[in-house]
Amino acid sequence: MCGIVAYVGNRQVTALLIEGLKRLEYRGYDSAGVAVVTTGGIKIGRTVGRVSVLENHVAETGGFDGNLGIAHTRWATHGPPTEANAHPHCGTTRDGQTVALVHNGIIENYAALKKYLTDKGHQFTSQTDTEVLAKLIAELYQGNLEQAVQAALHEVTGAYAIAVVTDAEPYTLVCARKGSPLIIGIADNSYVVASDASAIISHTSQVITLDDYQVARLHAEPKDARNPGNGWNADFRTTTIDNVLVSREISQLDMDLQQIELGGYAHYMLKEIMEQPEAIRNCLRGRIDQRECRVVLGGLAKHTRELVRAKRFLFTAQGTAYHAGLIAEYLFEDLVKVPARCEYASEFRYRNPIIEDSTVAIAISQSGETADTLAALREAKERGALALGAVNVVGSTIARETDAGVYLHVGPEIGVASTKAFVGQVLVLTMLALYIGKRRFLSDPVVSSYLRELDKLPDYIARVLEQSDHVRDCVQRHIHRDNWLFLGRGYNYPVALEGALKLKEISYIHAEGMPAAEMKHGPIALIDKGMPVVFLATQGSQYEKVISNIEEVRARGGSILAVATEGDSVIERYAQSVFYVPALPEALQPLVAVIPLQLLAYHAAVLRGHDVDKPRNLAKSVTVE
Ligand code: G6P
Repeated sequence: MCGIVAYVGNRQVTALLIEGLKRLEYRGYDSAGVAVVTTGGIKIGRTVGRVSVLENHVAETGGFDGNLGIAHTRWATHGPPTEANAHPHCGTTRDGQTVALVHNGIIENYAALKKYLTDKGHQFTSQTDTEVLAKLIAELYQGNLEQAVQAALHEVTGAYAIAVVTDAEPYTLVCARKGSPLIIGIADNSYVVASDASAIISHTSQVITLDDYQVARLHAEPKDARNPGNGWNADFRTTTIDNVLVSREISQLDMDLQQIELGGYAHYMLKEIMEQPEAIRNCLRGRIDQRECRVVLGGLAKHTRELVRAKRFLFTAQGTAYHAGLIAEYLFEDLVKVPARCEYASEFRYRNPIIEDSTVAIAISQSGETADTLAALREAKERGALALGAVNVVGSTIARETDAGVYLHVGPEIGVASTKAFVGQVLVLTMLALYIGKRRFLSDPVVSSYLRELDKLPDYIARVLEQSDHVRDCVQRHIHRDNWLFLGRGYNYPVALEGALKLKEISYIHAEGMPAAEMKHGPIALIDKGMPVVFLATQGSQYEKVISNIEEVRARGGSILAVATEGDSVIERYAQSVFYVPALPEALQPLVAVIPLQLLAYHAAVLRGHDVDKPRNLAKSVTVE
């Protein structure tokens, strides 16, 4: 959730670190800091607020010249976002040299370590768990940073991705991970380390990743210290925390710079909403074989038998991905005809769950790093389930820990409010249901009719997106309203939940999503004159019932906004605002019905003057429990 960037090599480091932090700012943005190893020792800058504040501070203060440095953008867990709590944190070695460290994750035994270090004479200046680790490394330092880091990591419990420097070793960067992502980019005569590929891709696409409990020592030194222009030598090694050498394969980042730049859009969220036709085309690519009437999911080939014989499907996720999992319950019971449940990963993992024989657990995650989802997946796997993933970030921890999986391939998602990843998740789960369903009882004509529609999905989404201005005008009429309801039935019930979540995440408007019929059991009490109520009212088996629910709201003065099927003119008699989506079988409707709700949330946030890409208190990737 916080962002790390670090560098050692032949370039001046500070501008490079600030640029990297800006790319990571979507992961956390309440404070930021940088440490650069200069000829006069370690120079530290820390500020509260956005990275631009740090950038100005560094420019005004000066003196941040060097070729080795670490930087961080924070999403506070321990201690409020103050300068003192911002990373980097420091410790002093017995020889009086400084160790500086940036950290993502949580050190769970920090209280005991703090006491130990206080008794040793270290003085703490922050309320963070991270400062403990910096001081512990300094305490254990005996002339070799790599060894001090290894020794310190033996003592900590919790999760970490760290980058560490000391002025005693001005050409060495040490990093390590357990449970929090960290990627090492290998460029010419230099290394750039980051918690997220987006801070690396402008330098190199050659990377290595670390496994848990692994440490990397990255070293880059001028051939002639007095004349650094005469070339550099660079080398690295990776070890376990027990100092056993491990070899890591160099892989190629599956990302290009253009994908993570705004490209003329006002916000990443808008860019990601508008690019959905392309993102969905990429998600579908090579997976729909119309002629053979089949879905091709190469990653699952080895497990097809287990999938076809499965007696239960368990989806687990958090946030928006959880809503995709709820849609999968309907999809799997309809198309696969096997019991399916979706559970919040955070609840599943702690309630001693019973996993029956032949259960397939499917973790759904954009980032592939959500701590609870990862833990739930491990729990299910340990209890005997086949563990699959529907993940966007290639090579992420969840992707690596599953037995098999299907990548979303919708490209990097930077906007904190998830949009294209949601549609990608639902699409992957739909394809998975068809993949298994066809091997169980779905007839070829039925599969074929779904495949034909999926093939056209990018064009359908493009058609819905054309209504963006219309959605904005409708939202404008209700923008002063602080309470909204989102109601749907069947497949559209999770879509209602997602619509409400999107609105509250970025506009800070209170919104609730629920099954349309549930409204009568309490929430109807909230409805008064003009209260906006968004109905998912697409044509299908429950259309008439939804119309009755609309009547109930209208009778109490509520304002109706409806997502309806193209060609439905009747709905206009009931709703003040209508957003049309193409006619699709019910199982495919969420893929288009959610689009107007993404636009609605986006426009509401902009109209209310909020920073859409950096909503308060939220983080893109929640790597703590
Ligand atoms: C955070 C994000 C949400 C996301 C959820 C799960 O809360 O703000 O947008 O849906 O985490 O993230 P994941 O990466 O596992 O899909």
